[in-house]
Amino acid sequence: MKYTAKAPANIAFIKYWGKRDEKLRIPLNGSISMNLSGVFTLTSVEFDKSLKEDQVWIDKKLERKKEKERVVNHLDIIRKLAGIPTKASVNSENNFPKGTGIASSASGFAALTLGAASAVGLSLSEKKLSLLARLGSGSACRSIPDGFVEWKAGNSDGTSYARTLYPPDYWDIRDLIIVVGQKGKKVSSTEGHTLAESSPFFKSRISGMGSKIREIKKALKDKDFSKLGHIIEEEAINMHTVMMTSNPPLFYWLPETLETILSIQYWRSQGLEIYFTIDAGPNIHVICEGKSSEKVIKKLRSLRKIRNIIENKPSIGARIIN
Ligand code: PMV
Repeated sequence: MKYTAKAPANIAFIKYWGKRDEKLRIPLNGSISMNLSGVFTLTSVEFDKSLKEDQVWIDKKLERKKEKERVVNHLDIIRKLAGIPTKASVNSENNFPKGTGIASSASGFAALTLGAASAVGLSLSEKKLSLLARLGSGSACRSIPDGFVEWKAGNSDGTSYARTLYPPDYWDIRDLIIVVGQKGKKVSSTEGHTLAESSPFFKSRISGMGSKIREIKKALKDKDFSKLGHIIEEEAINMHTVMMTSNPPLFYWLPETLETILSIQYWRSQGLEIYFTIDAGPNIHVICEGKSSEKVIKKLRSLRKIRNIIENKPSIGARIIN
């Protein structure tokens, strides 16, 4: 039977960059994120005995190479768990440009995990789904549970998974994604993670992580938006410093990215409470509270070269929708 899963992308407030175990995608630090209501992947999976090989469609394109291989590897893990050899047809659609720092691998592998597990007849716990999604793409483990999420790094396959800290309606935080670039990135995050340790700043990043995670969890608990925003912004700059100083260096920003950052900092100095974060791509995630989002959107629309703004509230995690 065909099952369709819907999974949100997520934005990391505290980010995962660098792995303890490459193959199992176990990170060197824990991370904290929010699932996003406006950017998601819909994935239908059907196991079909008449198929000689897996068929993988992503955004209406029949995949034949790297992307297909990654999906097939993930299907193999789920087939092994279910004890069946049957090939599958997978049809996945994103409602946003993939590979540009809006976490399409997170929503994609979370939806694939839930869709394939359901289609094969496995009824798995949220923890198990999160562990499995992590094997496809690390950040995908955070798109399984609802709302505001913590991924505890763990140190083995069975201990590295994500769980909900607070449900979506806990706090009306908005993530306004400013799309400045639509092209896929040249260096994937999977490749980027392997370079992290070559940055001279990586050790100090990791040594400060424990206290940063404690602080942001306190800001979430106290609903202290200024504290939350400052930590989010410092963390994004910290991760991009590591990226830009790795060997070879990684620059995910475009000129418009920096232009937007400077505007955000200027508007904040004028009293508007907004902060930014950026993942492995040029697009900027503007973080504000629901009460100021209309005003912030107006300001953002006044910027040159902005292609699109995608408004997000906190969202539930992955669900079967058929
Ligand atoms: O899960 P991956 O391999 O796509 O890595 C995600 C990396 C960042 O988006 C830059 C940070 C994060 O924690 O989401």
